[in-house]
Amino acid sequence: VQASPSSKAGLVSQSGGLVWHIRALRHRQGLWAPFLAELGDWLALWQPPERHVLILGASAGWTIPPLFCDRFASIVCVDLDPLAPWLFRRLHPHAAITFLRRDVFTQLPELLAAYPHHAVLFSNILGQHGLHCPDPTLAEMTITQIKHRLFGRSWASYHDRLSHTIAEGALAPSGFDLPDHLPADVLAQRVGLVGECVDHLTQYALPTGPRHVMAWDINAQRRHWIEAGRVNIYGVTF
Ligand SMILES: C[S@@+](CC[C@H](N)C(=O)[O-])C[C@H]1O[C@@H](n2cnc3c(N)ncnc32)[C@H](O)[C@@H]1O
Repeated sequence: VQASPSSKAGLVSQSGGLVWHIRALRHRQGLWAPFLAELGDWLALWQPPERHVLILGASAGWTIPPLFCDRFASIVCVDLDPLAPWLFRRLHPHAAITFLRRDVFTQLPELLAAYPHHAVLFSNILGQHGLHCPDPTLAEMTITQIKHRLFGRSWASYHDRLSHTIAEGALAPSGFDLPDHLPADVLAQRVGLVGECVDHLTQYALPTGPRHVMAWDINAQRRHWIEAGRVNIYGVTF
């Protein structure tokens, strides 16, 4: 089942904004902690040679470990949320942060051209596109094509694959590695999911190759399955 599309991301939106910040403040030191630790370990293994990074869908950087920012000489964050710059700077008091309020999906070519020497991190944004785009086929096509624009760039993404309701108190299982992508129904089976779920249309977001899958309980009733992949300048995942 697809989520019904809502208006563009911004202050109040289905993929970020106020609700996101309140949820993060409430859960990041409790319910979110196991996922954030697992993501932190995964991000620590992404060591692109570039000294600068473009973080797309940065929001306040609630999921970004503070040490991650310290590895880069400068950081360019992109998000439509007007609160994001202020919050990001408070959470990550890094000297050299530039914040841009741009639409990542329509302005990606311009962003990549403006920052040709930056590694690129899609920070839990690719799986949000289907929530804002009324046509799921078009949304999936847009997400699928992004990797072709990134050839020659070091990049990484962690994004929603599936999300679904859970019984309160259900324990989040640990993550696992996959040698390649799995179709949504096969992934759902693999994680023992029965019943309805949202397919975030990111099945082909990454090039073929290894990836890591993590469970993230974003509140006591809802679990997201996050896929994470690192890609080098030759388009090879590792
Ligand atoms: C799930 S949140 C990402 C969380 C963030 N990476 C963090 O660590 O807190 C998704 C973010 O993507 C942003 N977003 C969604 N669609 C966007 C678009 N088309 N252009 C720019 N930002 C967008 C939302 O505003 C939101 O902040």
